[in-house]
Amino acid sequence: MTNPAQDAPAASGPAALKVALLGGGTVGSQAARILTEDAEALRDRVGAPLELTGIAVRSRGAERDWRADPALYTTDAEALVDGADIVIELMGGIEPARTLIRRALAAGTSVITGNKALLAQHGEELFALASETGAQLSFEAAVAGAIPILRPLRDSLSGDTVTRVMGIANGTTNFILDRMDTEGADFADALAEAQRLGYAEADPTADVGGLDAAAKAAILATLSFGAPYTLDDVAVEGITAITAEDNAAAADAGYVIKLLAIAERATAEDGTSGAVLRVHPTLLPREHPLASVRGAYNAVFVEAENAGQLMFYGPGAGGAPTASAVMGDVVSIAQRIVRGGPARLRTPVAHLPALDAAEASTSCMVVLHVADEPGVLRRVAAVFEEHGVSLETLRQVQSDRAAAPGASLRLITHRARQRDLDATVDALAALDAVHEVVSVLKVEGN
Ligand code: NDP
Ligand code: HSE
Repeated sequence: MTNPAQDAPAASGPAALKVALLGGGTVGSQAARILTEDAEALRDRVGAPLELTGIAVRSRGAERDWRADPALYTTDAEALVDGADIVIELMGGIEPARTLIRRALAAGTSVITGNKALLAQHGEELFALASETGAQLSFEAAVAGAIPILRPLRDSLSGDTVTRVMGIANGTTNFILDRMDTEGADFADALAEAQRLGYAEADPTADVGGLDAAAKAAILATLSFGAPYTLDDVAVEGITAITAEDNAAAADAGYVIKLLAIAERATAEDGTSGAVLRVHPTLLPREHPLASVRGAYNAVFVEAENAGQLMFYGPGAGGAPTASAVMGDVVSIAQRIVRGGPARLRTPVAHLPALDAAEASTSCMVVLHVADEPGVLRRVAAVFEEHGVSLETLRQVQSDRAAAPGASLRLITHRARQRDLDATVDALAALDAVHEVVSVLKVEGN
């Protein structure tokens, strides 16, 4: 790889490193601001100036959170990539981001990206190309915004065995659920506010449908377990079905609903060792550390054999926080270009297959609307017993169905295999005495 900083004549100081920025939206405009306003401090840290050579956008005249010199905006992303020492990809989406990143890596140019959707689908192809050419592909911003979580997993915990990663990894959904829980906000209003604040993806169905958190779960699992996972390995359920009634039931039982991304080592019923990756709305006890994560903040709980439990917390979305993570990668890559040294490669070390989510061990809260007559409790409890699922609590509760004849029951199970919990719920739905399975929510942290 060429080293512009070392090639420069001594008298004029190290040559500037040319930084191409692909995308000038929520995060890109903040990265441009930091590169411009903090240029001196960055030069001191890197040992050479960082020169922002251009910002690739779709529309040169569009409104921006922070506007760079108008001459920097271009629609010719390829030309920008070709002249760069470092490329920052903040366009989002699969194409043209994938082709542009490939173009840079093929030329030996290191790339920083926050594009978890791309990494979770095509990461292995991009990392293989980077390792062929000696370029580096860095992506701290792709998971949990400003929170430094990927480096700790990759470096600090590399001498330990990570067994489980469980986190609130999507700011938009946490913002929506928090507003619904604390202010009784309407789902659509809370989503619109999250979009206005720059937390949501260009297509927010990736947020509310759980796919954004799933992409992050795949990335977290890949780094935690040293084996490659993709979006297809994650069982995904979003928050679109969560109702005000679910929130009320959760609050009444002492829980809060959070969208969790979980990656854990597990052993299947047939003895296969692997990992289960899942994203779903989850009930957490109000006193659990993740329950107090508010607004668009994220937090990731890591469990390792020797370190025990660690929690990483901070702003999970938004322009400036995410640009902070991007700039950390920029400085690290720029320092390597200036001082020399090999790129940091990502090599899978373990073969830990993704297991079906039915193999996961979890507990759940089931709310049933049942006939109010003798023997119903016994018949309901018998279904749990038949499927080997043990009950922690069973209570008759008030619910929106109170006006209808019958009674509402809230049952919370002990941990059981997901397959057995699913079969239990199916059998409950088929009982004559059960008028309706009102809700089934997974419970963690109890
Ligand atoms: P935005 O939609 O705000 O910005 C995207 C930018 O890319 C815009 O400037 C847009 O141009 C440009 N762009 C998109 N497609 C093209 C194209 N085909 N050709 C040229 N330019 C294009 O996205 P964000 O800044 O929110 O997100 C960027 C990336 O960072 C995504 O991968 C996202 O997942 C990730 N990320 C975002 C976070 C956030 O909080 N927003 C947090 C963590 C990661 P124009 O302005 O002209 O439309
Ligand atoms: N849309 C994402 C979120 C951005 O809400 O978390 C940060 O990755």
